[in-house]
Amino acid sequence: MTSIKEQLISLEKHAMSDLKQIETEQGLDEWRINYQGRRNGQLPKLLEELPKLPIEDRREVGIAANKLRDTLEIGYNERLQEIKNSELQEKLLEETIDVSLPGRKQTLGKLHPTTQTIREISSIFVNLGYQIVDGPEVESDYYNFEALNIPPDHPARDQWDTLWLDYNNEEGIRPLLLRTHTSPMQIRTMENQEPPIRVIVPGRCYRHEATDTTHESMFFQIEGLAVDKGITFADLKGTLYTFARKLFGAERKIRFRCDFFPFVEPGVDMSIDCFSCDGIGCRVCSNTGWIEIMGAGMVHPDVLKRVGYDPDVYTGFAFGMGPERISMLKHGIDDIRHFYTNDLRFLEQF
Ligand code: DAH
Repeated sequence: MTSIKEQLISLEKHAMSDLKQIETEQGLDEWRINYQGRRNGQLPKLLEELPKLPIEDRREVGIAANKLRDTLEIGYNERLQEIKNSELQEKLLEETIDVSLPGRKQTLGKLHPTTQTIREISSIFVNLGYQIVDGPEVESDYYNFEALNIPPDHPARDQWDTLWLDYNNEEGIRPLLLRTHTSPMQIRTMENQEPPIRVIVPGRCYRHEATDTTHESMFFQIEGLAVDKGITFADLKGTLYTFARKLFGAERKIRFRCDFFPFVEPGVDMSIDCFSCDGIGCRVCSNTGWIEIMGAGMVHPDVLKRVGYDPDVYTGFAFGMGPERISMLKHGIDDIRHFYTNDLRFLEQF
């Protein structure tokens, strides 16, 4: 039979090698119960044999047993500390934020170049006392044409290639179309307001048109209308002159030439001297030195009569321009189709 002393040595060996394998606090408790538990622990069990030893051996074995008890206790505490440390480590790792990781990029949206131009133009007129109004893109033949002195079958209609709506037209309902210009809002505004009127109308227009570098089937226009007692052509010139200088620079010259639009009399087109070459002649102005930027004129007396204004009392002027054309001129854009093909390489430049 192996002596108690030898058994103590082998118990220590087993206990300490078991201890190294333990990874959890629960495992550690089980280990302690297994070796030191009061009832069935291996060490207390062994010590039950102590009284059976010859008296001279008891002291020596007792000392060895106490030493082993201390060793187990120290081993227990050390392992407990190790387990706690590694749990903490794991928790810390879980909660760690990797500060070296680059942040997620926030992409910043921007206004569409046309919106930017419309806002720039609008704010110039708002500062001159104009109101911004909005109108329907689906219009009736009456507002888009007839009320603007463009009767059915009149050759002037050729100027506006129209997209008609496939709409079952019952008697009394006027034919519908996609507005070809923002001018119908002249009529709607005068019907709804009393003079003095100062409005601008930015909005989408549509034409049944083959597209090319200067034509799109959908584009924007900004219409303007001023009606009051005593408005003359001088007011038209003064207003549009101020506008052109605000938008294109204080040194700009302007030029008016006669043009025909059925709803104004006289009608004009307005040009500025080329801001790119100062009038010498270049690609931007097609070597003419001048750039046309809008149509305008004095509101036709028949248009005023149609909305119930007395043309002997009230007069007014109207104008219409294309913001895409203006932004093409300002930024040197060579194709109007860039605006609405949604290519970010184009849009991000503005
Ligand atoms: N509506 C015209 C067009 O689409 C532009 C225009 C010309 C508007 C003269 C006006 C104006 O108000 O007076 O071509």
